[in-house]
Amino acid sequence: MALPPGATRLQLIDLHPPPADIADLVTRGMKRTPRQLPAWLLYDAEGSRLFDAICEQPEYSLTRTETALLERQAGALARALGPGVLVEFGAGSARKVSPLLQALRPQAYVALDISAEHVHSACQALQERHPEVPMLAICCDYSLLEQLPAHPWLDAGRRLGFYPGSSIGNFDPAEAEALLRRLRLLLGEDSRLLIGIDQPKAVERLEAAYDDRAGVSAAFAFNLLQRLNRDLAGDFVPERFHYEARWQSEHSRIAMALVSRQQQTVQLAGRDWHFAAGEPLITEYSVKYSPEAFLQLAGRAGWRGADRWSDPAGDLSLHLLEPG
Ligand SMILES: C[S@@+](CC[C@H](N)C(=O)[O-])C[C@H]1O[C@@H](n2cnc3c(N)ncnc32)[C@H](O)[C@@H]1O
Repeated sequence: MALPPGATRLQLIDLHPPPADIADLVTRGMKRTPRQLPAWLLYDAEGSRLFDAICEQPEYSLTRTETALLERQAGALARALGPGVLVEFGAGSARKVSPLLQALRPQAYVALDISAEHVHSACQALQERHPEVPMLAICCDYSLLEQLPAHPWLDAGRRLGFYPGSSIGNFDPAEAEALLRRLRLLLGEDSRLLIGIDQPKAVERLEAAYDDRAGVSAAFAFNLLQRLNRDLAGDFVPERFHYEARWQSEHSRIAMALVSRQQQTVQLAGRDWHFAAGEPLITEYSVKYSPEAFLQLAGRAGWRGADRWSDPAGDLSLHLLEPG
């Protein structure tokens, strides 16, 4: 996209939910059975740093596999996507998008993430490698966004969604369907969506991926308690919980939880919350879909599968979706 000389090529729009909305979300989550908080709360600055460290663990192969697939297929993916504005959902460190930027040369790149400083500095680093691409970082909860903010870079071409990391698996299937429908609205009628989906595999492998030997996944979950203590006047004592990641075959998902070691009462967001011994606080789910099950879900949300690329071992797929 032609910009005037000297124009800044990276901008940040901050639409982070206000503290009162976060307190409401947490109160609602604490009233659920089992208690469950939105997964995005895991990503304050420290959580974002810990997630990057999880991606380096030998047990967590998803990032390496998906990155290699993107690098290998970048040309084919770019041809299938066609020209447009690349919009990444949950970009985080934006470590996967470079091969696509290289092959696609989009009119602009838009990175959405809840972790403002993290996504902004990720885009700064990315811009040095791709100085020709205008970049917009938007801090927001994309699952609640009614529309993308008005900005000329977002209207510079057809919107091409990019949603890697199998992050759709953090939502239960009904929420995931609603989110896919929302992405259609955010991207517009003539859009495409390239989405990474991790598949079910051996239970031991999945449980190890989300509970690595170095304890980084556990630290990531425990960081949520620090965040709640800091931001919502909580008094969680981390030692009174233990971390676990269990495959629940009936739901085709890993459930990650901090489990209360004892009966206890915790203060949070101005209320007392009683935990029984053994009671879990779900920090996140990761639902795994076969390609067929995912395409059914996408179909219910108004998308149809146009193409699919998989790694040689068949661990995960990149699906290209079009409005159905
Ligand atoms: C599992 S990480 C994946 C990061 C990266 N896309 C990848 O594939 O490695 C999820 C990312 O999405 C962001 N995120 C999670 N839920 C979000 C939400 N509801 N709205 C905006 N960002 C969210 C987190 O901050 C984090 O950077």
